[in-house]
Amino acid sequence: KAKDVATTPPMGWNSWNTFGTEINEQLVKDIADAFVDLGLRDAGYNYLVLDDGWMAKERDENNNLVPGPNKFPNGMKDVVDYVHSRGLKFGIYNCAGNKTCAGYPGSRGFEYQDAKLYAEWGVDFLKYDWCNTENLNAKGAYQTMRDALYATGRPILFSICEWGDNDPWKWGEEMGHMWRVTGDIINCWDCKVGHGTWSSLGVWPIIKLRKEIRKYTGPGHWNDFDMMEVGNGMTAAEDRVHFAMWSMLSSPLIMGNDLRSASKETIVTLTNKEVIAVNQDELGIQAYCHSDEGELEIWVKPLHNGEWAFAFVNMSKERIEVDYEWNRHPVKDDLSNRELKADHIVYKIRDLYNHKDLGTTKTNLKSDIGSHDVLMLRLVPDIK
Ligand code: GLA
Repeated sequence: KAKDVATTPPMGWNSWNTFGTEINEQLVKDIADAFVDLGLRDAGYNYLVLDDGWMAKERDENNNLVPGPNKFPNGMKDVVDYVHSRGLKFGIYNCAGNKTCAGYPGSRGFEYQDAKLYAEWGVDFLKYDWCNTENLNAKGAYQTMRDALYATGRPILFSICEWGDNDPWKWGEEMGHMWRVTGDIINCWDCKVGHGTWSSLGVWPIIKLRKEIRKYTGPGHWNDFDMMEVGNGMTAAEDRVHFAMWSMLSSPLIMGNDLRSASKETIVTLTNKEVIAVNQDELGIQAYCHSDEGELEIWVKPLHNGEWAFAFVNMSKERIEVDYEWNRHPVKDDLSNRELKADHIVYKIRDLYNHKDLGTTKTNLKSDIGSHDVLMLRLVPDIK
């Protein structure tokens, strides 16, 4: 696979959550403009990814994929060039099976031909799905496409979308740069919606299902908790929790909302540079759950330079008061063997959503947190 790609969790936008297959050239150009105008590009988002639905229903007479003629009348290269001209990278979608999930031509049997075409268009990212894959071996199918992308000589980020059915975290590092760990996300706090053979999952069911696979994530190879639903209907507080948790978990931060009509509050959340810095921390360690007793959950993520990120999440329907003594329950990450030494090092505390300094770990943390909201902190050793 391409080297020096996704050394920190990829950041960008994907069309699927809001637009499904209703995508076209004008939408891509408007979204690219929004990346720039809303400060998203400056905040670190750089991949604009077109999901399923960009193709015509059939390949051409030479078996090449064809962009939908009504959706992309000037072809795909024109769109890719536009995205590049705005200082962004371009991503595209296909599927390991005979057809994509929405019924467009899949790449099975055409992997090298398709990869070559993407490279000619200047594609920088491929999301590769897992529908209609009867009798295919998952690891082998992703390996074929990995090799096809590599053979183009273009550094293309390979995003594996296999939903966690074949433990992709066990072989994903070898095959790609990120891999989905569950079925599709849906815009709710804790719901599950069944569709017969599969279910869509809200924010917390996704987190809870995959909190144990943290050892597989790291620079160049990430557990992908799915495209975000920030701005897609949860409360502003729930959106803050969702964004905080995706950052804590070192998940790719792929926006899934309509950037053209996003509210000010949504953009403030998505461009919070202090939260993003936690996601982009160079160690790339996925947070673990320090405590989930009762209504307050505490998640912890070790950062470089002996720093730490904390997310205190209020899971209840009421506002709660927090009075937290820093060295009462030792904070130790068994995976990275790092320990927070609040008993003999003083840490300065920074509140990442309110952009305020909150004193040090010498005294108890006192705060109140609204329902389904988060207090997200960064602790920095106070070395004089
Ligand atoms: C699957 C994927 C989604 C999306 C759709 C497109 O469900 O998991 O993220 O790409 O296919 O059809």
